[in-house]
Amino acid sequence: MLKIGIIGCGKIAQVRHIPEYAAHDQAEIIAFYDKTPRRAEDMAEKYGGQAYPSLEALLADETIDAVSVCVANHMHAEVTIQALRAGKHVLCEKPMAMTMDDCRTMVELAAETGKELVIGHNQILTPAHRRAKELLDQGLIGDVLTFRTTFGHGGPETWSIDPGPGTWFFNKEVAVLGAMADLGVHKVYLLHYLTGQRFAEVMADFATLDKTYASGQPIMVEDNALCIFRMENGIRGTLAASWTYYGPEDNSTVLYGTKGIMRVYDDQDYSIVVTLRDGETIYYDLESIQTNENQTKSGVIDAFMATILEGQETELSGEKALHSMATIFAAIESAKQKRSVRID
Ligand SMILES: NC(=O)c1ccc[n+]([C@@H]2O[C@H](COP(=O)([O-])OP(=O)(O)OC[C@H]3O[C@@H](n4cnc5c(N)ncnc54)[C@H](O)[C@@H]3O)[C@@H](O)[C@H]2O)c1
Repeated sequence: MLKIGIIGCGKIAQVRHIPEYAAHDQAEIIAFYDKTPRRAEDMAEKYGGQAYPSLEALLADETIDAVSVCVANHMHAEVTIQALRAGKHVLCEKPMAMTMDDCRTMVELAAETGKELVIGHNQILTPAHRRAKELLDQGLIGDVLTFRTTFGHGGPETWSIDPGPGTWFFNKEVAVLGAMADLGVHKVYLLHYLTGQRFAEVMADFATLDKTYASGQPIMVEDNALCIFRMENGIRGTLAASWTYYGPEDNSTVLYGTKGIMRVYDDQDYSIVVTLRDGETIYYDLESIQTNENQTKSGVIDAFMATILEGQETELSGEKALHSMATIFAAIESAKQKRSVRID
């Protein structure tokens, strides 16, 4: 049985991390910490375990084997580094960290301490994305030539446990990064997984089109990001990440191959629709993706637990996240400089 601590008891902790640990027969949550103490106390009351008065107090508890880091973006690296140093395995939410140096430090420290570092890139675990990967590997649509991928919803200010235009997601000092790192990182990670290709170059355009603070001033992080990518093997693709899709969430990915087209989460009724070049259409009815309104099991906690308990190599390791983060930082640079940027 692994003893778990939850650091940050907001929305993602409450709808995914905590219930998924609670449902796991090898996990026992024994500690909660949030900078709003009432939140940690509520979780301890509901799930058992104890609310801790500080991060340091939680990390000093030697009975805790592993922690989930579910705090606001700017603290991901600092909390993860402290937790690794305290000898805990760490599951850190995305975006991994706010600088490439911090991302690397986290990975190096995990290697040094011999602890697992896992990042919450849940999208590659959804049934339709798993199936799409199998079908692509089997060559159903031939070689992928181009793709378009989208992640858009109406914005994080209705999702956060502290909702409204004052949400930390809009606060440049706390969120640091905008829609591209919040939503785009999921799709960057996904396309790397689906195509098996690394991102080689990006041309990006970011804008703040609609979100404002209560004062009416535009927010200081982008609410929309558009990117054109070249992958290492030369294929091209586009990505849209948006906090201003005021209607149903768009989580679609379409891959255009030499033998046909694969649409994933692009059809109301079927999770995958493949149309082959000869006109044949194949429908796959798999579980729909988690949306802000429809929370389903992410599978991230199971992956984290399996990595620790069985030494199973995880597809969600900190090391694997480095390439996606490099791609995000290249996109940010491209948008700033208004030119294409190569990705190392
Ligand atoms: N994997 C996903 O699909 C997914 C979805 C949503 C959010 N997230 C990520 O999860 C993280 C948390 O987001 P959320 O949606 O739960 O936000 P939230 O606003 O609902 O909750 C954040 C919580 O963290 C607490 N907190 C903030 N800074 C802290 C600190 N220094 N120490 C202790 N507690 C602190 C806040 O009090 C709050 O309770 C973010 O980085 C976000 O990007 C990931």
